[in-house]
Formats: sequence, C-alpha cells, structure tokens
Amino acid sequence: MTAPTQVAQRLRLRELRKTYRSRGREPFEAVKGIDLDIEPGELVALLGPSGCGKTTTLRMIAGLETVTDGSIMIGDRSVGDLPPGKRQVGVGFESYALYPPLSVRENLAYGLKARRVRDANQRVDRIAERLEMTDLLGLRPANLSSGQKQRVALARALVRNPPVLLLDEPLSHLDAGQRQRVRRELKVLQREFGYTTIIVTHDQLEALSLADRLAVMDGGIIQQFGTPDEIFDDPANRFVADFVGEPPINMLDGITSDDGRTVQLGDAGGLTLAGPFPTARQVQVGLRPQDCVLTTQTTGALSATVLVYENLLEYGLATVRLAGVEGRVVVQVAAGHSLTSGDIVSITAPPERVYLFDPVTGDRLRAS
Ligand SMILES: Nc1ncnc2c1ncn2[C@@H]1O[C@H](COP(=O)(O)OP(=O)(O)O)[C@@H](O)[C@H]1O
Ligand SMILES: [Mg+2]
Repeated sequence: MTAPTQVAQRLRLRELRKTYRSRGREPFEAVKGIDLDIEPGELVALLGPSGCGKTTTLRMIAGLETVTDGSIMIGDRSVGDLPPGKRQVGVGFESYALYPPLSVRENLAYGLKARRVRDANQRVDRIAERLEMTDLLGLRPANLSSGQKQRVALARALVRNPPVLLLDEPLSHLDAGQRQRVRRELKVLQREFGYTTIIVTHDQLEALSLADRLAVMDGGIIQQFGTPDEIFDDPANRFVADFVGEPPINMLDGITSDDGRTVQLGDAGGLTLAGPFPTARQVQVGLRPQDCVLTTQTTGALSATVLVYENLLEYGLATVRLAGVEGRVVVQVAAGHSLTSGDIVSITAPPERVYLFDPVTGDRLRAS
C-alpha cells in the first residue's frame, strides 16, 4: 500500500471532563476527569459497559462534542479548541452519516478528492479489498445493510490515513465470522500504517484481541489502564476484576484470619494468602475460574460439592457449592477430568491469585 504520509502522534488527555446540560434537567457529568497517555502508533481499547462515557470521550477528542474541562493534546498541539477538520483525526462513528446521493466509492473518495489526493481511486480500491467490500463500491448507502454501512464507515476513516484514528464500536453489526476477519485486518492495517488508535468497545474479546493496552472505564472514570495481562493478573478494583475475564471471576464473602495470612470462606475452609492482609476483616474474595485448582490436599483448600460439570473438550467447567458460602463457584479444570454432580472435591488457588476487595467500596486490598 502507499507509504504512510504522516508521523504517528502521541495522544494525551488531561483531566478531561464533560457535563451535559439540558434545560429542565439536572446537569449530568458523563466524563469525570480522564487522564490517558497513548504512545505514537499504539492501539488502545476503551472498554466499559453501556453508558459509562466511552462515546462522549471519543466525540470530545474528535471535536464533535465540546469539552467542559481539561485538555486534549495530539503531538505537541492542544486541539481542544480546533474544529474537527483541523485535528487530523479519522473517525468511524455509526452516527456519522454517508452522503445518500453518492455511491460508496464516491463517499470514500470524497474527502481525498477535496484534499487533491492524486491516487484517491486506487486508495479506495485497496482499502475496499482489504475490508472485503469491493462489491459494495457501486452501491448507494440506502441499499446497504447495517453491517455493510459499518464497513464503509470504517473504510472511510482508514482511507484518509489519519495520524489518529478513533473508532466507536466499529464491528458491532458484523456477523461473527466477518467480525473476526475484519478485526484481524484492522489490526494488520493499524500496524502497517501506525495510526495512533482508540477503539471503543463493550466486548472484552474484541478489546483483548486488538489492544496493546486497555482502558477499562466505568461511571465516567478510567478504572484501570494497562496491558491485557496487567488488567487480568492485577485488577485495580472489583469492577475491573468482574468486567474482564471469561468465565467471570467468582466473588465470595470471606473473613481474614487473626494473622492476616489466610481467608476463611464460610464452613468450607480457608485459602492461604500472599499476606499479611488486614486481620479479622470482612472481605470479598475474588477467585478466577482459571486460577482454581482441584487438589487432594485439605489444608489451605476449600471443600466443595460439584453441582454440575460441563465438558468443553479443551477444558471443563465445574460449578460447585462451598458449605456456608452464598453463591456458586465456577472452576476451570483441565480436559480429562470426569466429575459428576454430588462429587466432593477440594479446591485451592495460588496465594498470589487470591484477590481481596473491600466489600463496600470494591477497592482492592493489598498485602502489607
Ligand atoms: N447529549 C446528551 N445529553 C445528555 N446526556 C447524554 C448525552 N449523550 C450521552 N449522555 C449520557 O451520558 C452518559 C454516557 O454516554 P455515552 O458516552 O454515550 O456512553 P457509552 O458510549 O459508554 O455507552 C450516558 O448516561 C448517557 O445517557
Ligand atoms: Mg457508545
């Protein structure tokens, strides 16, 4: 493809805030002071539940929404006061309409021709091929399905070869197979051209597969920013631990021992901690299904009753109950186990993989 025409840019957000004010309504603070440093050419996924402020954040960076407070830097330039067209940002938003009277090809080439890019048509052809949409080039927007529109929107953002690329749920309308292929191609293109990229998604698999780093967001706040491994292995709080991981982490009530080196779960026994932790304290214990180990040992292990076992070929999932503990626990076991309902098993976990949280605030409790 054509060589990159721009140098990758660093993107920096400082104390970025957005309060929506509409008449007759209480002001609503959708983004509550975001700091983010994205390296040139890095791909960051902004991951969080619906309504947490992802789109608002992206729209502020793109210049489609006013900033209530804080700053946005692209390279060395503060862009918060620049109109969208002057920010050198490529956006792929669902709400960004295509021009109905123009064909897909004309829609894609439009911005390029306005900027007198000489090989506009070739660029459109190459991007279209990479995104499996050559057959769409002659169609008009009205004749596209939602998945096709979405690929056109993605192509329009990419064809401009922007230093900064912002994509809001760019694959949500694609069917499963196509979503995987386009996702892979998007990452290849991003690597090839080095766009500094933020991709918004509520789908953790999409975030994990694409991102160099994840920004996990909730309630208008970045809860944690780190590599997928950092987020999975060292969650900053209960929200992050809960939101990232499949099957979801088990959350159980427990109480730490008088020396802070074990945590007791109901009448099922105790788990050894990488302590010392605060002593004799009510806590929430986070145990990832992948970290639980079926064992024959009895000390430092929990006694459990198997409720159901699912053989998923590559591994199995045992759902168990612990005596005197509210809720069920999902344990991932290696292939080849044959467990049956009613089996009594012992479960343990490596001490450094037993996470403790404050039951009220959800803050992570750390060993001292
Ligand atoms: N124009 C607006 N006026 C008032 N509230 C808004 C507006 N746009 C979004 N919101 C609210 O701000 C919050 C964040 O929205 P949004 O950024 O779209 O979240 P996400 O993209 O993470 O789903 C939501 O509670 C939403 O209802
Ligand atoms: Mg959104």
